Amino acid sequence: MKTDLFFTTGTGNSLWAARTVADELGNAELIPMLWAAGNPVQSQADAVGIIFPVHIWGLPQQVITFVNALAIDTSKYYFALAVNAGQVAATLLQLKKIMKSRGLFLSSGFDIVMPSNYIPWGGPGSEDKRMRRISDAKEKIHKISSIVAKRERWPVEKGPLWQNILFSWFYKFSFSYIPTMDKDFWVDDKCNSCTLCKKICPCGNIDLKTGKPVWLHHCEQCLACIQWCPKEAIQYGKKTPRYERYHHPEVTLEDIISISQRASRSGDAQDNTYSLIGQGRST
Ligand SMILES: Cc1cc2nc3c(=O)[nH]c(=O)nc-3n(C[C@H](O)[C@H](O)[C@H](O)COP(=O)(O)O)c2cc1C
Ligand code: SF4
Ligand code: SF4
Repeated sequence: MKTDLFFTTGTGNSLWAARTVADELGNAELIPMLWAAGNPVQSQADAVGIIFPVHIWGLPQQVITFVNALAIDTSKYYFALAVNAGQVAATLLQLKKIMKSRGLFLSSGFDIVMPSNYIPWGGPGSEDKRMRRISDAKEKIHKISSIVAKRERWPVEKGPLWQNILFSWFYKFSFSYIPTMDKDFWVDDKCNSCTLCKKICPCGNIDLKTGKPVWLHHCEQCLACIQWCPKEAIQYGKKTPRYERYHHPEVTLEDIISISQRASRSGDAQDNTYSLIGQGRST
């Protein structure tokens, strides 16, 4: 039994979750959604996993684009991991609904709590708290994997009712503003014009003018640029100069760059396996 794990990530939490599922299940392949987007996504596997970060209490645009491109095959087992920082809200219900509208059935969906990468609201928390979240997530993925291995149906996980109502409204309200939310990014004088932010952006939203980044207003708010800048020179609003940066400790810059760089050269939908599945286990 083979499993394809389609993932997207800004700071590596979802990539780590996908790797952990792959290690547990065996015979699994990791495929960045970015490489599949825009093509009719065919999978030869028996099970398809969809693994992504929760953004503003819902699905990132990239996940919606991916699901809309997924070939209709009702014989497969579909499951999802919504990787978040404690408020999954109705994200998995949203995914289930979109899939249903395409004739696909989401058999199970799980809430995976990891350290927060949403730096406009603060840092990722203490080292202790981060490590506890990662280790709890690992334990949960161990349990999930046995559900997935048996292809069991499991009700999709969700937040409390008040959260689902209120935050789903927020999601709907803010969704159309996301591409231009990059207007609050700025760069300070620590920038050494290394060009990494341009390379790492998954949607070509950064250009360099006189060696400094400018944002082009089709942002997906993955926050990879601000979190991975080696000089911590990218800021968002007023408070981020004093907030700690975060990326998953077992995911490397090379892992993330390889996703966006391969995507910018993409066009070949067949050769889409993410070759770094067994690499990048330390920074
Ligand atoms: C734009 C944005 C919005 C976010 N919204 C939520 C949210 O609604 N609920 C939540 O629990 N975490 C939220 N987060 C935190 C991420 O979901 C969480 O840190 C996730 O583990 C990041 O995964 P990644 O490293 O794969 O990108 C948000 C992060 C970003 C960048
Ligand atoms: S990654 Fe940071 S240091 Fe490098 S060009 Fe971008 S802002 Fe400047
Ligand atoms: S500009 Fe930054 S936050 Fe926006 S999509 Fe690119 S890397 Fe992500």
